[in-house]
Amino acid sequence: MADIKYQVGVLTLSDKGSKGERIDESGQILSGMVAELGHVSRYQVIADDLDKITMVLESWVDDLHLDLILTTGGTGLSPRDVTPQATAAVLDYEIPGMAEAMRAASLQKTSRAMLSRALAGVRQQSLIVNLPGSPKAVKENFEVLLPVLPHALAKLQGDPADCAVE
Ligand code: MTE
Repeated sequence: MADIKYQVGVLTLSDKGSKGERIDESGQILSGMVAELGHVSRYQVIADDLDKITMVLESWVDDLHLDLILTTGGTGLSPRDVTPQATAAVLDYEIPGMAEAMRAASLQKTSRAMLSRALAGVRQQSLIVNLPGSPKAVKENFEVLLPVLPHALAKLQGDPADCAVE
């Protein structure tokens, strides 16, 4: 693993979690999984509120310049699930392959994977990735992306090296 430590934000979207009615296991799992890649410099649990989510994402990119922002929760079909809408509103561009890869791998485990509307993309030089909300789903989805993240983050920061296949 490269010795660069990236600045990471973990944002959990949960109405119950935001009121202290649920322990945020998924955010903790993500923070643990990302440890080799970077330092979790921001961690927050907020309600499934479009404006609030948009505000936090914008601030973490525009003010704090975090390299990687991982969201968990709110990607499904419940009326309160608005994470992908909030993410779409702040992205400069999407990276469809990342979301496709997560769904493709997850479909091998559960057909319900097709219900996640998770997005991945870039705002300025920050990579933003939505992950589903359950602890099991977070782990299963994020382990698909983890091997690619060092290269993705290096490229975002302007690494001029050729994309040679390992
Ligand atoms: N992906 C994996 N790998 N494993 C899972 O158990 N659960 C799915 C899906 N993706 C799941 C998964 C389910 S049941 C839903 S509703 C969607 O993620 C959206 O989850 P969210 O609303 O918690 O974000």
